[in-house]
Amino acid sequence: MSKNPIIVFEGIEGSGKSYHIKKVSNFLKKKKRKFIQIREPGGSKNSERIRNLILNNKSTFNKNTDLLLYLSARSENVELIKKNIGKKIVLIDRFKDSTIAYQHYGMGINLKLIATLNNYLLKNINIDFTFLNIVNIKNMKNRLMKRKNLNRYDKFDNKFYSNVQKGFIKLQKKNSKKYMKIDSNLDIEYNEKIILDKIKSLI
Ligand code: TMP
Repeated sequence: MSKNPIIVFEGIEGSGKSYHIKKVSNFLKKKKRKFIQIREPGGSKNSERIRNLILNNKSTFNKNTDLLLYLSARSENVELIKKNIGKKIVLIDRFKDSTIAYQHYGMGINLKLIATLNNYLLKNINIDFTFLNIVNIKNMKNRLMKRKNLNRYDKFDNKFYSNVQKGFIKLQKKNSKKYMKIDSNLDIEYNEKIILDKIKSLI
């Protein structure tokens, strides 16, 4: 594996992925390692514009429109990622597994269609490692309730998030060597150490 891998953080709302990605980026800064960090949807300028459109509480798009908007946001990140592959570590807060988990396992859009569109966009962009953060629905709800601003995708029912998380776990089980499941119901500092130890072995 390249010493500048592509590392993705996945998981449902409140699963702690954004917290951990921040800790990893602090660690890389301290080590003076070159890296880029993006989130999806978002990351680059155009992709952030699309993010605002998708997640805006006033938006009422149907699920197919959402799928195409998430992919549009991804499309705007492809050049940025390609430019940095092998040269800098690439940290991504959500990537193609989120589309499979949310739009297929959560919303029922055809899996093959999503895979085809992802492959069309991403071609030679291969993820080296994924941290899948899981959380039980009660803790997820408690964490969401503490947020000041909830977006359009923070407001589904429990069953939806439960289906999405089951989808993520299926993806992790299919390719377990390239995934690490992080149980975010456990102590956050304990998880932080596990993640940083793995990061040290990856870079
Ligand atoms: P977050 O960045 O604050 O986690 O919110 C992004 C939301 O977008 C989250 O609810 C997951 C959702 N999402 C999809 O449904 N499909 C996707 O492909 C991506 C990248 C995100």
